[in-house]
Amino acid sequence: MNAKQLAGEKAVEYVKDGMLVGLGTGSTVYWSILKLGKLVKHGLDIKGVPTSKSTEKLAIELGIPIVDLSSVDQIDLTVDGADEANPNFELIKGGGGALLREKMVASVSKRLVIVMDETKFVTNLGRFPLPVEIVPFGWEMTCKQINSLGCKPALRMANNTPFITDNGNYIADCHFESIQDASKLNHTLNMIPGVVENGLFVQMADTLVIGRTDGHVDILLK
Ligand code: 5RP
Repeated sequence: MNAKQLAGEKAVEYVKDGMLVGLGTGSTVYWSILKLGKLVKHGLDIKGVPTSKSTEKLAIELGIPIVDLSSVDQIDLTVDGADEANPNFELIKGGGGALLREKMVASVSKRLVIVMDETKFVTNLGRFPLPVEIVPFGWEMTCKQINSLGCKPALRMANNTPFITDNGNYIADCHFESIQDASKLNHTLNMIPGVVENGLFVQMADTLVIGRTDGHVDILLK
């Protein structure tokens, strides 16, 4: 059983006619978007707010009407993936590099439904390196300051050059190993000049849809 597909498709049950829906980024929410595309073809009336250029392209290909974040006040529900989630519904996101737009969309969503496979549900966040979006100017200095918080930042690379986000920035993947206070770290990181945003999502998600390889789907509600 494809656990990501199970979770991704299950989450679509939360989407209702007339909703403005935040569309996340990644290989799990891909299944949600695919299913939404089929439902739209059969008459579901929704509009999507994409969290990345790749999701925007996918939504357009599938015929899902999209609107820009700038033209909305509030989003009814966002479906997105995560790299890790803990029992407090705190998340690490940004494995795909879309964390800034994802966080902006999540911050104006009435509901954030996270889709993931069972391997991502963890007791402590931090085994997955925390993605931090940083501006290219002086990135080495920014990494030194992040390093002083007790982690090893590594500049994300793609084809031997720095990975560039949809916003023209770099990503530092920060190996913390174990994050004890996600809320504090979230604020501390964002106080460093040069940091645009980090991948800790605290008090944002309210629903975790967890697909299992045995075919079951667990739903955790906050
Ligand atoms: C992209 C993200 C993704 O949602 C996260 O990396 C999970 O991706 P996937 O579903 O492909 O495992 O935060 O920035």
